[in-house]
Amino acid sequence: MAFLSKVLAVVPLLLTLTSTVHAQPSPALQKRISAAIKAAANQTQLDYTAFVNPFIGTDNFGDVCPGASVPFGMAKFTTDMTGYAPAGYVTDNTQFVRGLSPLHDSGTGSSLGTYGNFEIMPLMCPHGFDTCTTTLAARQRLRKNNTDDASPGYFALTLNNNIKMEATATRRAGLERFTFPANATSKPYFVLDLANDLPASFAGGELNIDPQKGRITIGGLWGSSFGPSRFNYQAFACYDLLDGGKQKLSEWGVWTGDTVGLDAKGLGLTHLNLTLNLIGGIYQSGALFSYEDQSTPINIRVGVSFRSTDQACANAESEIGTASFEDIQGRAKVLWQEKLSKIEIDVPNTPANVTEMLYSSLYRSSLTPNNATGETQGVFADTTHPYFDSLYCSWDTFRTFYPLMALHSPVEFAQIVDNYIDGWRKNGWMPECRANNLPGWTQGGSSADNIVSHFAMNYHNEASELGIDLNELYAALLADGELNPPEWNIEGRQVNVYKKYGYVPFAVLDVSSTGRQTREGSRTLEYAFEDFGIRQVALLLGKSDDVETYTNRSLFYRNVWDPSVVSDGYKGFSQKRFPNGTFAFTSPVNCSPNDKNDTRSCSLQGNNVNGFYESSSWEYSWFAPHDTAHLIDLMGGNATFVKRLDHFFNAGYYLAGNEPSFQTPIGYHYANHPAKSVDRVREVVFTNFDITPAGLPGNDDQAAMASLLSFHLLGLYPVPSTSQFLVLSPFTPKYTIHNSFLNVSTTVTTVNYSQKSIQKKIPAGVPAYVQSVTINGKASTRCHFDFFDVFRVGGEVVITLTADKTKADDCEGSLPESISTGGFAKAR
Ligand SMILES: *[C@@H]1O[C@H](CO)[C@@H](O)[C@H](O)[C@H]1NC(C)=O
Ligand SMILES: *[C@@H]1O[C@H](CO)[C@@H](O)[C@H](O)[C@H]1NC(C)=O
Ligand SMILES: *[C@@H]1O[C@H](CO)[C@@H](O)[C@H](O)[C@H]1NC(C)=O
Ligand SMILES: *[C@@H]1O[C@H](CO)[C@@H](O)[C@H](O)[C@H]1NC(C)=O
Ligand SMILES: *[C@@H]1O[C@H](CO)[C@@H](O)[C@H](O)[C@H]1NC(C)=O
Ligand SMILES: *[C@@H]1O[C@H](CO)[C@@H](O)[C@H](O)[C@H]1NC(C)=O
Ligand SMILES: *[C@@H]1O[C@H](CO)[C@@H](O)[C@H](O)[C@H]1NC(C)=O
Ligand SMILES: *[C@@H]1O[C@H](CO)[C@@H](O)[C@H](O)[C@H]1NC(C)=O
Ligand SMILES: *[C@@H]1O[C@H](CO)[C@@H](O)[C@H](O)[C@H]1NC(C)=O
Ligand SMILES: *[C@@H]1O[C@H](CO)[C@@H](O)[C@H](O)[C@H]1NC(C)=O
Ligand SMILES: *[C@@H]1O[C@H](CO)[C@@H](O)[C@H](O)[C@H]1NC(C)=O
Ligand SMILES: *[C@@H]1O[C@H](CO)[C@@H](O)[C@H](O)[C@H]1NC(C)=O
Repeated sequence: MAFLSKVLAVVPLLLTLTSTVHAQPSPALQKRISAAIKAAANQTQLDYTAFVNPFIGTDNFGDVCPGASVPFGMAKFTTDMTGYAPAGYVTDNTQFVRGLSPLHDSGTGSSLGTYGNFEIMPLMCPHGFDTCTTTLAARQRLRKNNTDDASPGYFALTLNNNIKMEATATRRAGLERFTFPANATSKPYFVLDLANDLPASFAGGELNIDPQKGRITIGGLWGSSFGPSRFNYQAFACYDLLDGGKQKLSEWGVWTGDTVGLDAKGLGLTHLNLTLNLIGGIYQSGALFSYEDQSTPINIRVGVSFRSTDQACANAESEIGTASFEDIQGRAKVLWQEKLSKIEIDVPNTPANVTEMLYSSLYRSSLTPNNATGETQGVFADTTHPYFDSLYCSWDTFRTFYPLMALHSPVEFAQIVDNYIDGWRKNGWMPECRANNLPGWTQGGSSADNIVSHFAMNYHNEASELGIDLNELYAALLADGELNPPEWNIEGRQVNVYKKYGYVPFAVLDVSSTGRQTREGSRTLEYAFEDFGIRQVALLLGKSDDVETYTNRSLFYRNVWDPSVVSDGYKGFSQKRFPNGTFAFTSPVNCSPNDKNDTRSCSLQGNNVNGFYESSSWEYSWFAPHDTAHLIDLMGGNATFVKRLDHFFNAGYYLAGNEPSFQTPIGYHYANHPAKSVDRVREVVFTNFDITPAGLPGNDDQAAMASLLSFHLLGLYPVPSTSQFLVLSPFTPKYTIHNSFLNVSTTVTTVNYSQKSIQKKIPAGVPAYVQSVTINGKASTRCHFDFFDVFRVGGEVVITLTADKTKADDCEGSLPESISTGGFAKAR
């Protein structure tokens, strides 16, 4: 979801937020990355993990989690900060550290944050146990400036009292290492928080200390960070404090506190039984313990589970056992190297910033969703299928995240597809948004349709080998397309009225389902594209009646096109519409960066009367990825379409950080101006992305942004629910994509590549525009190619660039496909 990201992506342009000082992370981090990239010139075996900067997106509301994690790890260890910090960590060094904790999401815009349960905070208590600063406000501390560090599988931060905290992780466990300064003012103390998560949603829990074993078990119930507050999820942790007997506890006990005087400690007590908390908000209670004075670092082993404390302990035992911090960090690094080396580029001849942006993006593109297989609860308890937490949300990830995964990791993609289908098996509809194991709010409808259909369109030959039954997949699609759920805010769509009217009407009487009746324009546009996804699988499976039905429905985007609306001299915009067919006018400028009204509701609010979700009509009116040719007609032909695209960017309507805008910079391809797309993508990348913590144009949206940037840098754009790629100009002279399931590798070589072209504005005379493309020696079309001809079979793709923009600005008679011009006529 772009939720707050969007509010924040738009609002800072309108309001001036106080600017903050960002003296994080350690400057040594960038020096290390730069040196690694430079050293690659003389290496044959590259360590791709050394090119990753986990802090990109930890500022400017990127909401990225830089914590220690393995690929798709359920555990992501990082510090939780005060202020706006949905992923726990932020670079802003005026924010205080509350503790280090094992559960986080990455790149989600939840306003209050998500997870952050089970925080541990190292303390010095010179006046003993009873004087320890245990409550949130009392224990929070600033960091030492310029010391934060992270690499794939590792996180470190030093507090301003010189206590260093480090963490490394496995899928459901991790090791924490605390180094106290030699001149520490007390023996090492630790406070462990039972109740507080980032959104302050504690609904009850329990804590037990076993001093002999040196083990603390915790568990409880918490609420969703982005969904109905009536649902709770359960989570558990197991803290092993003795490092296999090498460490000795000194004191232990429990504490409770509040902000108005309560600050009670119970030395020697071992239980907290707070199984029901109905009043909500911040509740403060936990464990407090100390070690005998010692100079070596304190090692603490942590297991987490969504099922039980026993399972949390078992996870730590099986995934870590007696392994050392370095062992676990080394194992995490191996897993990351395996993922990152699926895309190899010519590092020595690629600008260093491009290398760092690409590998950092690929890293985040395998950081989420969180693999909670075997950790299921609620209706998913004991499912025999893979299970992933944090599908946050499908509206964000269907466009680029899963298409990127499809290129190199079909096995993982299939597991996630199975997980989506399992949502249908258990709930009757596929999940749209899953936050904290709970159903999150729906955004555009059932965007899972475009995820599972993308899988089907690209891997139908291998589907059964990958554990996917295409008929079952299709049944799940039909449920989304045909069955109106009782409440479509959390799954499915309002298909009852959509089918009846051919659009989602504004102010319609719906007697059989509930949901927030807003966003009628954007819901219609997204529903239509979801229907295209269903249509594609119907085509694949030869269900000709359904093909006709869903092809027709995929064109319903036309039904919200009001040809009479004019804005900035351009005619025709998507608009919401009454049941009687009359359009309900709202200005296309509303909710765009050019909207002068900074109090307008543009997101999920009940008073978002604008008709579009987190977008303006200026922005959403480009959205018909399966039928852009007809959109061009609606807008008045190629020339007007191109002029209007230019105006959209130049006048500031484009939002790089917003999903409905993802494909727009490449829209020129459809009007036969591919060179203009190349120019635009260069501008978009260098205006909105860089290698700094503020280097994302807003919320990463669970790596939706990271995967978009990866495609931009590779010079590709995927059309979701199809096997078509739009071809642009790569930012690297050569890259290879390895698909170890299909056993193929595809190398793309960019002839006439010039580093001079890798900037915001391509200088005249520098080759950067696609002149020709060959695939395994055979000439291909210039503007697009197909998965089945390229990445499915592997081999050599050669893209030859030219400086002659005029000559290159033509698709030579082969435009990318659109339904209305006979495109997508058969499945490959
Ligand atoms: C690579 O090796 C060459 C020749 O040994 C040396 O001159 C150059 O400095 C090395 N470059 C890097 C970045 O290590
Ligand atoms: C970090 O630096 C800022 C100025 O950038 C300063 O205000 C703050 O006190 C420093 N923090 C610490 C812990 O030294
Ligand atoms: C303790 O040692 C640290 C270096 O580890 C130093 O920066 C700090 O000033 C010392 N503090 C005291 C109170 O001596
Ligand atoms: C915790 O409290 C609940 C509810 O009061 C009670 O049922 C349960 O037995 C208690 N558990 C322990 C271990 O005391
Ligand atoms: C690389 O990125 C950094 C940080 O944004 C920037 O200062 C630098 O100019 C960039 N270098 C190049 C060659 O673009
Ligand atoms: C998820 O975890 C399960 C159980 O360990 C494993 O079999 C599967 O490969 C993992 N999937 C991904 C995508 O990490
Ligand atoms: C699809 O639309 C066409 C053209 O409007 C119409 O003739 C046909 O009956 C429709 N088919 C279905 C199944 O709705
Ligand atoms: C359609 O309904 C709207 C809202 O009730 C109303 O303003 C409009 O006049 C109606 N249009 C027609 C043609 O009746
Ligand atoms: C701005 O938007 C708010 C909320 O939708 C609305 O109440 C107000 O009338 C708008 N102000 C202007 C000047 O349009
Ligand atoms: C746009 O240009 C393409 C390619 O030249 C052409 O096929 C198409 O008919 C044009 N569309 C319109 C609406 O003029
Ligand atoms: C890929 O290779 C492996 C081992 O060589 C083999 O088991 C597998 O069937 C191959 N997969 C495909 C899709 O050819
Ligand atoms: C691009 O490469 C081709 C073939 O190698 C060459 O003929 C052409 O001159 C090059 N164009 C530019 C602008 O470098």
